[in-house]
Amino acid sequence: IQTHRLNPSASIPASQAQAAQAAELDSDFLEPVHHDLDPVFKPPERLFAGDVPVPHIKSREEYVKLYQESIKAPSVFWSKMASELLEWERPPKFAAQGGYEDGDFSWFDGGLINACVNAVDRHAAATPDKTAIIWESDEPGEHEHISYRRLLIEVSKLANVFKSHGLRKGDHVAIYMPMVPEALYAMLACARLGLVHCVVFAGFSADAVRDRINDCGAKLVITADQGKRGGKVINLKRTVDQALLETPTIEKCLVFRRTGEFNIPFHKGRDLWYHEEVEKARPVCPPEPMHPEDPLFILYTSGSTGKPKGLIHSTGGYMLQTASSFKYIFDYHPSDIYGCMADVGWITGHSYICYGPLTMGATTVVFESIPTYPDAGRFWDCVQTHKITQLYTAPTAIRTLKKFGDEFVTKHDLSSLRVLGSVGEPINPEAWQWYHQVPGRSQCAIVDTYWQTETGSIIMTPLPGAIATKPGSCTVPFFGIEPVIIDATTGAEIKGNDVTGVLALRMHPGGWPSMARTILGDHKRFLDTYFNVYKGYYFTGDGAHRDKDGYYWVRGRVDDVINVSGHRISTSEVESAMIGHPAVAESAVVGIPDDVTGQALAVFVVLKPEFDVPLAPSPEATHHHHIKVDDVKKSMIQHIRQAVGPFAAPKMLFLVPDLPKTRSGKIMRRILRKVGGGEVKSEEQIKELGDLSTLADPGLIPQLVEIVHAKA
Ligand code: WTA
Repeated sequence: IQTHRLNPSASIPASQAQAAQAAELDSDFLEPVHHDLDPVFKPPERLFAGDVPVPHIKSREEYVKLYQESIKAPSVFWSKMASELLEWERPPKFAAQGGYEDGDFSWFDGGLINACVNAVDRHAAATPDKTAIIWESDEPGEHEHISYRRLLIEVSKLANVFKSHGLRKGDHVAIYMPMVPEALYAMLACARLGLVHCVVFAGFSADAVRDRINDCGAKLVITADQGKRGGKVINLKRTVDQALLETPTIEKCLVFRRTGEFNIPFHKGRDLWYHEEVEKARPVCPPEPMHPEDPLFILYTSGSTGKPKGLIHSTGGYMLQTASSFKYIFDYHPSDIYGCMADVGWITGHSYICYGPLTMGATTVVFESIPTYPDAGRFWDCVQTHKITQLYTAPTAIRTLKKFGDEFVTKHDLSSLRVLGSVGEPINPEAWQWYHQVPGRSQCAIVDTYWQTETGSIIMTPLPGAIATKPGSCTVPFFGIEPVIIDATTGAEIKGNDVTGVLALRMHPGGWPSMARTILGDHKRFLDTYFNVYKGYYFTGDGAHRDKDGYYWVRGRVDDVINVSGHRISTSEVESAMIGHPAVAESAVVGIPDDVTGQALAVFVVLKPEFDVPLAPSPEATHHHHIKVDDVKKSMIQHIRQAVGPFAAPKMLFLVPDLPKTRSGKIMRRILRKVGGGEVKSEEQIKELGDLSTLADPGLIPQLVEIVHAKA
């Protein structure tokens, strides 16, 4: 039932593919908006007051100068940065090479580098006692400091464990871990040996873990007996056991003991206790010199087709741009304590909990809990306890905390904070203002950072000391990035300001250093998804507005990706899961607006004819019927949780007689988004949905409206 909208087959010429592509985008995020009267906030004076480190970039002029250099001569710009920020085993001979036509771009050929040495060894040598990781446990008041010296020992031991089980450079390792330092040890130990890690977010279901392990062919998986989150335990090992029933490549399963409370079954010959293994291992392990283009990791993300994409990131370019963006965007100085509240299962955790901060020798917080445990003051309690200087979180968390009221914030001493970051989804101006005024006390720089799993690091953002901000805008491009707005219907670049369209990035040789290099096992899909949609540009999948001052406002995905609490969910991934449910004939999943999570999933389901239940409870329906409808719906939601993960559970599920389709059979999602969002009630509003003449059955719409508004 899924039409693949964004992957035009490469057999059709690019111009035709573009036209096909352009005609398919029907997102509201492409409709014009205006930003004329938005408030503007200058960089906070406090940053220049003298009692805090002076910002690296002090004015807009300084930013513009560096930005121009980065665009005019990317190779010169990044080579200089690469020798300043990274330690090379052997310096590179070249900078950017190759292009986007074949996707053969590469950075720093001729060089040799090890990511773990950059993130750990050199700081263990220079500042051995400095705290590398502050682990904030799920239980408030329970935390641990891990020095760079200790980090090197822990990582080296684990690397030796990997070696002792036969893992060698190029092998793949799956990581399914709670937010404990051992998750980072595992990533870094892989990097040390040239093993390619593949972190799978610990909220994914057994089916999702199995599919990812099978796609990447991991030989070893590392997990924990249980995880803890918000006072609840999560049975990670149990999920892994279920996944491993169907993963022929896995030889060993290394189990970290987080709670020790659960009597987990051990599979002889396959399962090993982490603590027992590291006890045997030597704390010295020579790092493997790597080519800068050797893969550092695989990370799966959702695209517009059902199959998740295993994006591959490089070693040299990725390390360089995560480190440099971390330094300039969070305005990092050696005395800082930096806290990113994300999970290492997502790209934000890779780039801005692990690699970026550690490569800069920073102190990074690993936060195991949730923003509301034991209450809505948890973040601020952490800030006060650890004297956090930069806090990085998502709009969903900000909106949730705002709801609980200011007292949870104001009762804490937040004077250490200088920079507050936001990531993962558009931040609405009200949430931005609250973040700025209450936790930020109007004295912190707010950095709304826009980027993607694919880009590896932040690509649009203000810089704390240099760029004035507007609530809701990610402002200006970071070094090396040239954003453009493209007309969705013609595929042509729209010049000038005050324009809305598809957000793309102009490609120059090499692109930018931290760009993903390919999709594991499917380079053609990589090219088709990102580079063959609009020739000469990288296609982001987002709609955006460039305002009269040239500031960017990212509005949301224009493809079939839904952003729920900053988690990317593919509509077709959920739709394919639905097909596995015995009662489902057909389904369509759309994103509807939600006050807290940004977007939420709404699922429209057509039942198989033999499942004869009333589509919505009606006053006449018997008690018996009510139960049946609810049971069917519940079992479907449960089915999605199992197939994808609890975070993909829909907010709304409607049983409908049919899906609105064009005569050629394409589902009109625009209509489902509007109707599912509850925006359409009256006949008038149905008319406002626009031209419905292409619908095979226009009479269906009033029925859908009725079903959506029927109160159960
Ligand atoms: C969205 C997360 C608006 C966007 C780092 C993008 C944002 C997708 C922002 C990538 C932001 C991320 N403003 N939208 N500051 N940051 N997005 O791959 O739709 O999990 O395409 O990477 O999140 O999500 P991903």
